[in-house]
Amino acid sequence: MNIEQLREDRQKWMTWKNIKPLRDALDKLQEIECSVELGDVVKITSEDAYDVEDTARMMMPWRKGPFQIFDTFIDTEWKSNIKYNLLRPYFNLKDKRVADIGCNNGYYLFRMQEDSPKSLVGFDPSPLYKTQFDFINHFVKSDIVYELLGVEHLEFYEEKFDTIFCLGVLYHRSDPVAMLKQLFKGLDKKGEVILDTFYIEGDDEMCLCPASSYSKIPNIYFVPTIKALKHWCLRAGFSEFEVLEVSKTDASEQRKTDWIEGQSLEDFLDPEDSTKTVEGYPAPARVYVRLIKDKK
Ligand SMILES: C[S@@+](CC[C@H](N)C(=O)[O-])C[C@H]1O[C@@H](n2cnc3c(N)ncnc32)[C@H](O)[C@@H]1O
Repeated sequence: MNIEQLREDRQKWMTWKNIKPLRDALDKLQEIECSVELGDVVKITSEDAYDVEDTARMMMPWRKGPFQIFDTFIDTEWKSNIKYNLLRPYFNLKDKRVADIGCNNGYYLFRMQEDSPKSLVGFDPSPLYKTQFDFINHFVKSDIVYELLGVEHLEFYEEKFDTIFCLGVLYHRSDPVAMLKQLFKGLDKKGEVILDTFYIEGDDEMCLCPASSYSKIPNIYFVPTIKALKHWCLRAGFSEFEVLEVSKTDASEQRKTDWIEGQSLEDFLDPEDSTKTVEGYPAPARVYVRLIKDKK
């Protein structure tokens, strides 16, 4: 696969009729002296007044964040700081080549700069999320590379990685073991993957296969027990599987804000029993794992 050609082809996605006006708005952004704070809120401040609210609103829906850009607080659907802070004790990215697969608008990548990694590369085939990234990065001016590529391109990528994050992507793939093999091939010899996915309770190696949606999300294919997930990972070639954390998603982490259209978590759960989704499946719970390529 020719990654350079793919990169070039996908650049044309920026001319799609829903994306082009956003790119035009980006081109009009002023250069402005500003400071960046990489806390729970990725915050950009300046002594000069600059109103970017209309530009930010054009780029809705904003799923991952939050961000504060001058006087505009982008109160994203997800408080992604909760996931980042949960994982924070489990990684040290100093001098590492790092990829975030399914990086969305780059919220985690911006925060990962705090570790001084050797390089940071985001993969996400969404021109909208890349545009959100470019908007934030216009002010942050990071060295983060954002590729409009998917996990399926990782094994052909020009660079191998020491640490790959792949958060919230596995359940969207119709062939999860194939995806885990792609992550495996994207790693350098001593590399690690930090991954999360929905899981169901149970001691057996079983899997929930939603009929047409899970928690109203249509493209969820498999929700495994932790034991089934472990077997997928070992069969993909990883030599070590370590559970880092488990967590339930609640309305303090995912909720409707005026930076998204439509519904959020509260509409996806059974109104009479919040332990179940509207489809009657167990409510979303996540497991966070570390996978080691080769522990020798
Ligand atoms: C549920 S979101 C997870 C975002 C973020 N990683 C997190 O955990 O908060 C899934 C992301 O995967 C991206 N995505 C879709 N297809 C993909 C693919 N083939 N490879 C990598 N990412 C993909 C979507 O655009 C979206 O940003």
